[in-house]
Amino acid sequence: MTLYPAEYTRIVVFTGAGMSAESGVPTYRGRGGTWERYQWEEYACQEAFERDPEGVLRFHALRRQAVLQCKPHAGHEAIVQLEKNHGSVTVVTQNIDGMHQRAGSRNVIELHGSLWRLRCPDHGVIDDVGERYTTDHCDRCGGWLRPDIVWFCDNLDEAVVDRALTAISSCDLLVSIGTSGVVWPAAGFPVAARENGAQCVEINPEETDMSYLYETAIREPAALCLPNLFDYKLL
Ligand code: OAD
Repeated sequence: MTLYPAEYTRIVVFTGAGMSAESGVPTYRGRGGTWERYQWEEYACQEAFERDPEGVLRFHALRRQAVLQCKPHAGHEAIVQLEKNHGSVTVVTQNIDGMHQRAGSRNVIELHGSLWRLRCPDHGVIDDVGERYTTDHCDRCGGWLRPDIVWFCDNLDEAVVDRALTAISSCDLLVSIGTSGVVWPAAGFPVAARENGAQCVEINPEETDMSYLYETAIREPAALCLPNLFDYKLL
């Protein structure tokens, strides 16, 4: 399949863990997925953090180290090229690994937060981008800093969801890549895009529970499909 970006006014690229799979970052569900190897109840919820902040921070420090061993792939680069060749591209991602930004994407909405930020519940968010945390306590109140990630049982940041929904409900092309689509609000995105008459394309080697919402499916991995998907010739 070929997409001609010049035919669209506003494009949204919506990504999940499958986007980073060929970089070497494990997905969450399915064989070898993070939630098969680790119990989220022990590592990815506020209750776990309150019980064992050091253990939870150590788990996320290991994830940071693992991500730093990985590099963006040709699919990430194709999205950067799309941004460079089209005036309105928004990347909405569920990924917390920062891979789109490392590849050079500029307009990225991170629905589930970032591995590269820490947060004090009272004094806000700090960037912390190294392999090791520069600190794990707030320098104002001395309390533990938690990863600025949307964990299980957390609410999403409403302002971030609003920005994502505004982009999605006004786009005329939605390209969804590597998500099982089961986590809210992801499941509603193709519906919101279609209400605006957008063309919705799913890139995923596997069919998902949400596949029926997309009019076109490309059953290929992201790094194989994306570099050949966009044609910048004017029709
Ligand atoms: P999942 O692990 O649920 O789904 C990954 C999807 O990527 C699956 O549908 C795979 O078929 C597909 N996939 C695998 N390899 C691929 C490849 N090379 N190219 C394209 N697709 C591929 O991940 P998400 O849908 O992102 O939340 O999960 C959503 C959220 O659930 C995550 O953000 C995470 C998790 O709990 C938080 O951590 C807050």
